[in-house]
Amino acid sequence: MRPKLVVGNWKMNGSRAANAQLLQGILAGLNDGGAASAVCVPAPYLFQCEQLLAGSAMAWGAQDVATEPCGAFTGEVCSSMLQDFGCRYVIVGHSERRAYHGESNALVAGKAKAALDAGLTPIVCVGETLEQREAGATQDVVGAQLDAVLEVVGADAVPKLVVAYEPVWAIGTGKTATPAMAQEVHAFLRQKLRNCNAEAAEHVQILYGGSMKPENAGDLMAQPDIDGGLIGGAALKSSDFLGIIRAA
Ligand code: G3P
Repeated sequence: MRPKLVVGNWKMNGSRAANAQLLQGILAGLNDGGAASAVCVPAPYLFQCEQLLAGSAMAWGAQDVATEPCGAFTGEVCSSMLQDFGCRYVIVGHSERRAYHGESNALVAGKAKAALDAGLTPIVCVGETLEQREAGATQDVVGAQLDAVLEVVGADAVPKLVVAYEPVWAIGTGKTATPAMAQEVHAFLRQKLRNCNAEAAEHVQILYGGSMKPENAGDLMAQPDIDGGLIGGAALKSSDFLGIIRAA
């Protein structure tokens, strides 16, 4: 059995006051021995997370990282900076970055590599649009997204990855993939990982993301290849986030 992991992706939400209230609410409800959890927050709030979460059971991380180690790249945040603020995770290749910032599979692969080089765990997001699903291209799309990363980071890096399957049509829409639909893609992704590193693939956590809530989390995470969740909207309310952690 792989341990479950529940990660909140705050996206571009938060304020110092709201974050403090949210994190205190989550920490107050976390049980010892429950599923592992983390929050990935906007970069300006990493310092606040480090202050509030250090020594707690919850980890923290960022939502993006530069491919370059440091230097003249205005507006970018590099992996050593994330490490400096105690991050364990960084999301790479979220569909919102692919769609609104034109991130290619190759760029996402470079970001995953930069994260690994700094000792961070990249949460590699893959997912198809509704159009692609309806055209029967889901496996081609998510397969190409994952392969691009595996080719760059190599087989030895497989045990250091977290993968997140986020069907674009399920993100923030209230439409969730059924457990069977999600499991089918997760099993396909695990097979891809096996083809790269058979032994390590059994230990890689593959998270589901897309309108996961306390009400549907249990059924999704009961699937054999769904090892947790990457949570958007429901991560912004402590009772919902805790509900998902408990369901895990
Ligand atoms: O990364 C999390 C995500 O995109 C899912 O968002 O709001 O549908 O849970 P949401």
